Amino acid sequence: MTTYHFPPGYSFFGTYQRTLKVVRDPLKTMGESVEKFGDSYSVSSGISGRMILTQDPEFIDYVLRKNQKNYSKSRMVTEKLGRFIGNGLLTSNGAYWLRQRRLIQPGFHIQKIQGLYGIMKQTIDDFLRDFPTGDQVDIYPLMNRLAFNVVVNTLFDIDLPSESIKVLSRFISEVQEFVITDIRQPHKSWWFQLSGEVAKNKRKAEHTREILRNIIHQRQASGTKFNDLLDMLLDARYEDTGEAMSEEQILDEILILFIAGHETTGNTLTWTLSLLASHPEELNKLLEATRNSSIQETVTNARLLAVINESMRLYPPAWVSDRVALEDDSFNGFSFPRGTIIALYYYGLHRSKRYWKHPESYNPTRFLTDEGDKERSKIFFPFGGGPRLCIGNNFAMAEMALFIHSFVHNFDLHPTPVVPVAVPLITLRPKGVVLKVERRK
Ligand code: HEM
Repeated sequence: MTTYHFPPGYSFFGTYQRTLKVVRDPLKTMGESVEKFGDSYSVSSGISGRMILTQDPEFIDYVLRKNQKNYSKSRMVTEKLGRFIGNGLLTSNGAYWLRQRRLIQPGFHIQKIQGLYGIMKQTIDDFLRDFPTGDQVDIYPLMNRLAFNVVVNTLFDIDLPSESIKVLSRFISEVQEFVITDIRQPHKSWWFQLSGEVAKNKRKAEHTREILRNIIHQRQASGTKFNDLLDMLLDARYEDTGEAMSEEQILDEILILFIAGHETTGNTLTWTLSLLASHPEELNKLLEATRNSSIQETVTNARLLAVINESMRLYPPAWVSDRVALEDDSFNGFSFPRGTIIALYYYGLHRSKRYWKHPESYNPTRFLTDEGDKERSKIFFPFGGGPRLCIGNNFAMAEMALFIHSFVHNFDLHPTPVVPVAVPLITLRPKGVVLKVERRK
């Protein structure tokens, strides 16, 4: 029998005790485990298996890039999400994923994204026109809606009936809530099946797909060309066959773009405003650096990008990700069998003293100069890495830069006594970001 050398960690019973603490406070518990065992540690999973958690940047790079062929996404999230939103980029693996990625990737090339800046800017301007002001503005729901609107408008550059948008938005948030509940309470999965919860969400998914199907049919019947993501999906052709995606595949990918592309962005925008509100000196530097900048200058403005990056360092929306080893593997003296799940703990890495200078302090300038951090591209993973790097990274950075720029030049921000907290669900969701917002004169 092969003997494996897992990283140190918790015994079977230790894991049980730790799990109780993880449920209460995952970030704190995972931080304590790293203190105790080091950057990589293992916990018991199932009767005999073990799972590895790591914030070692070299181990992360090994899994995501150097030996990526040996790793696929684990079924935990992909299956639970996939049964409602289908088999698209985020939820597929292997040859199917690769074929879809090759097909869709060109549509997210920076030059294509530039063609969407106009729609993004218009959406932001419309949104800011009625932006609420006052002593207690709850920022997260607003940022979530803005990010949703940007995805809707860049996907469908037409006015959709408000009822369709409502159904879509409700479905996206309800299905996410359900998947989170399901993942957090695996022992209740059978009950969710039996009680009809799963079936209910599947019916909602079908209703949403029906609405999207109608939009596609109208587009095809109109014969008009739009410069939006829907046209990109409709026009894309597989290299090998020259064929287009089927309608069901297009529906899958549309739903994936909604799920992957709005909550992540909404979270980052919320944290960015929260951090700027409590660091007026940084807000002033940003205002100075971005005064009168054009759209092109805004999306490439180094200080603005640094402000966004610093917020994703402290609060990476994808705070943890997982992979499963397809064959036995070893790294740096550790070895583990096929089937081992490896959790890549970006939140811990982004706040580790070993790699960042004064990691707990908010300092966007670290992204502009060498502030003594280790080589940054090797320790900063907001968009993941390797072949499954976020396909929407250029899209997201441009959208966030355009929004933050418009926002800070039109509104002033101040903190309130409400203390924000980071809630680690599938994404790291901000809660209690309540700010004083005033329109600038
Ligand atoms: C701040 C905003 C965003 C962050 C932090 C983010 C982060 C990520 C991360 C970490 C992954 C890789 C997950 C893994 O390796 O398991 C990912 C994948 C993905 N993201 Fe994003 N994302 C953002 C915005 C967007 C946007 C705006 C879109 C689309 C419009 C998008 C579409 C996708 C898709 C389709 C995937 C799956 C790619 C694949 O597996 O081939 N994301 N994202």
